[in-house]
Amino acid sequence: MGLRNIIKKGDPSLLKKSREVTSFDKRLAALLDDMRETLIAANGLGLAGPQVGVLRRVCLVIDTSGEEEEIVELVNPVIVEAEGEQDGMEGCLSLPGVWGMVKRPMRVKVAAQDRDGNWFEREGEGLTARAFCHEIDHLSGVLFDSVAERILDPEEVEKMAEEEKEAESGESE
Ligand code: NI
Repeated sequence: MGLRNIIKKGDPSLLKKSREVTSFDKRLAALLDDMRETLIAANGLGLAGPQVGVLRRVCLVIDTSGEEEEIVELVNPVIVEAEGEQDGMEGCLSLPGVWGMVKRPMRVKVAAQDRDGNWFEREGEGLTARAFCHEIDHLSGVLFDSVAERILDPEEVEKMAEEEKEAESGESE
C-alpha cells in the first residue's frame, strides 16, 4: 500500500455518507497509515476516508496549535461541543484551486475513537477547529463549497495570501 489517490470533486463518492467503523483491525490500521502518508505528501491540513474512496467514518486532522504539528486520527468522530464563530478562507484537497469563505465555530470539542477503538476527546481552536469541522463534514458527504458563504475568485485568493504573508512578517519583527 502507501500513497492513495485523492478523489476530486465530480466523483459521486464525495457526496455519500460514510458508514461507522466497527472493526478495529489491521485493515483499518493500514488505511490510516496510508491516509497519513497521503496527507503529508499532498501537504494538506486534513483528509477524510471518502477522499481516498473509502466510505468509512475516518479522518485525519493536522493540529498546528502546539509547538510541533501533530496528526490526529479520528475514527467515528462526533462534534460534542462548539462555541464562538470564525469566518475564514477554506480549501480542500478534493477541490484543487478552489477557495471559499466559510463560517465555522471558533472552538470545538470532538469525541472519537483511536485506531484501537478507544474513545477520547480532543479540543481544537481556530484553524484546528475549522479542520475538524471540514473533515467531519466530509463523512456526511458535505464539501466546503456547499457551505461556503461565497467562493473567492483567483485575484481575491492571491490578495488574501499576500495579506497573510505581510501579517506574518509583521509578527516576526
Ligand atoms: Ni476537504
